Formats: sequence, C-alpha cells, structure tokens
Amino acid sequence: LGGLSPQAIYKMLKAKELESIMISPRKKVIPPESVRTILIDKGFKYQKQILAFDMIKGGVGKTTLSSTVAARASHYGCKTLIIDFDLQGNLSRSFELPNKTYKIWIDIVKDNVDVNETIINVSPYLDIIPSNLNNSRLDIEMQHASTNIKDHVKDILDNVIDNYDLIIIDCPPAINKVSASAICASDKVIIPLNPDPYAMDGLVMTLNEIKRIKKSFKLKNPDYMIVWNKYDARKRLGAIYMHDLASQIKVEHILPVVIRTDTSYENAIANAASIFEASKNTNAKEDIDQMAREIIGLNKWVEENSIDK
Ligand SMILES: Nc1ncnc2c1ncn2[C@@H]1O[C@H](COP(=O)(O)OP(=O)(O)OP(=O)(O)O)[C@@H](O)[C@H]1O
Ligand SMILES: [Mg+2]
Repeated sequence: LGGLSPQAIYKMLKAKELESIMISPRKKVIPPESVRTILIDKGFKYQKQILAFDMIKGGVGKTTLSSTVAARASHYGCKTLIIDFDLQGNLSRSFELPNKTYKIWIDIVKDNVDVNETIINVSPYLDIIPSNLNNSRLDIEMQHASTNIKDHVKDILDNVIDNYDLIIIDCPPAINKVSASAICASDKVIIPLNPDPYAMDGLVMTLNEIKRIKKSFKLKNPDYMIVWNKYDARKRLGAIYMHDLASQIKVEHILPVVIRTDTSYENAIANAASIFEASKNTNAKEDIDQMAREIIGLNKWVEENSIDK
C-alpha cells in the first residue's frame, strides 16, 4: 500500500477503527473499503477511466486479464465495473452470478432496459454487466435502432459513470459495431499481445481499426497500451519477439509489466478472483497485482510520493 509498512497500516486500522478480516491466526486481510480510506487519507486519488481490452486475434488473454485486473483493482478500493461484450460470455462465467436470469446489453438496445438493471454486484467494489449468446444479435439490433456508434456505449455509461472509478470492457475477438462503440467510449484500449510469430499481424489490424475509428468519428481518444501476456522465459524466441516490437512501437505505448505464463489462470475461468486466494505466491498473483497497480496509477503515485513512514 504505497510504501506503508505493515506497522503503519496496523496503526491506521486501529486509529480509524477500520475493518480488517482475520483469515488465519497470523494473517489479516483489509477489505476494499478500508484500503480506500487508507489510500485517500495518504493522498492517493482514484482517477476515473474507461478501458477497452481489445485485440482482433482470439485467445491472447483479453478476458483473463480484464477479469483478474478488475478483481485486483477492486481489492485496492477502486470502484470497478466490468462489462462483458463477448457473446461467448466467458468473462461472465468467471464470476459467480447470483441468479440465472439477468439482463444484458441487448436488452438495453432492444427493450430500452435501464443500464442499472443489467448491473450485478459480484464482490465488494466489483460489479459486472454480463453477456450471453443473446448478445449475438447486438449488431443487427444496433443497425435497426440506427444507433449512433460513436455515442451508443458512451451515452449509456454516462448514466453510471459517477458510481465507478474504473470501467473495463472485455471485447470480443472481432470487428463489430459494439466493440467499435466501446472503443469510442474508452480513454484507453489495452491490447494483450503474446510473444509469438503471429503477434504482429493481430496488432497491426487492431491498431488500424482504432485509427480508422478515431479518424472517422474525429476522436482524440482512445490512446492504446500494449501488454505482453503468456511470456515464458524458457522460450528464447519470446524475448526476441518482444525486442522486435519494442523497436517498432513507442515505449510509452507498452505497459511496463509482463504477464508470465502460469497455470493458475485456468482456475480463473471458474473464478476470476481465485488467483488471489491461493496462499502461496504465484507469478499470476504478482503480475496481475503489478498490472492493476499500473492501471489505477498506484505505482506512479508511490514513485512520486515516497511515503516511507
Ligand atoms: N498468462 C497466461 N498464462 C497461462 N494461460 C493463460 C494466460 N493468459 C491467458 N491464458 C489462457 O489462454 C486462454 C485464452 O485466454 P482468454 O480467454 O483470456 O483470451 P481472449 O483474448 O479473451 O480470447 P477470445 O478472443 O476468444 O475472447 C485461456 O485458456 C486462458 O486461461
Ligand atoms: Mg475473451
């Protein structure tokens, strides 16, 4: 927590009578609300941002990273909403949804359902707008409703934006109207990239699509950030592909974290937060923690305010 020592945190918990939860005789966890109070007290500001996790190539880790980073951001007291725009609903399946019948984005488009009715709380500070196969008609419905792609997602999110610090949109591996609209609404597009020989093809297509959308709607945003996922230090070509990209993309567009290959993500399909529940330290835990800290601006804040007390 921003360079605070465990003793300093313990003191703050006591002084401010903040809640903490004993999970074993020697281990306590601090719930998001208490973390938020501590960080705000130390001067940290939660910045508002909408991020689209997008990449035309499938299987690169859009869903894995968006769900785990959202879960981790919420642990840091960041009020987070995650939106599943993939009709496969993989992201939705990674959270335990309380009931079987729920409203999704197509209900907003088709039946004018209030966006608030589609939001489900899954854990403290973490909400989701789920998806399922019914969203497969989204593009057609959006055409019927002659929806304005530029403002569609943005206008709907305007109704809830005050309730969140971070809104993350998990896009499908396709160019379609709803992901174009998600891009228009975003401050940044996060592009997961795997260090393999085909990485560049998917990246070039995705970047061209973002460029095309920005140009045709005359938008200033979104910016984009690339994040390396599925890095395996034992495969020497991986490092070569990364080096190759680094020579072609400006460094400010590359997130300063690398997500290593780790088997614990498989379990995240059943429960996105599960990678943090294991008691032992894993690469996944460490990497997603770093990625979440980068995204919410915690690393930068710590760097700028060394608050070692
Ligand atoms: N760092 C990682 N280490 C190990 N496995 C990973 C890692 N990242 C993702 N995976 C696995 O790769 C597979 C594809 O990941 P994911 O579904 O997140 O990709 P995606 O980009 O959302 O795919 P799609 O384009 O189909 O939506 C999943 O089985 C996931 O568990
Ligand atoms: Mg996905």
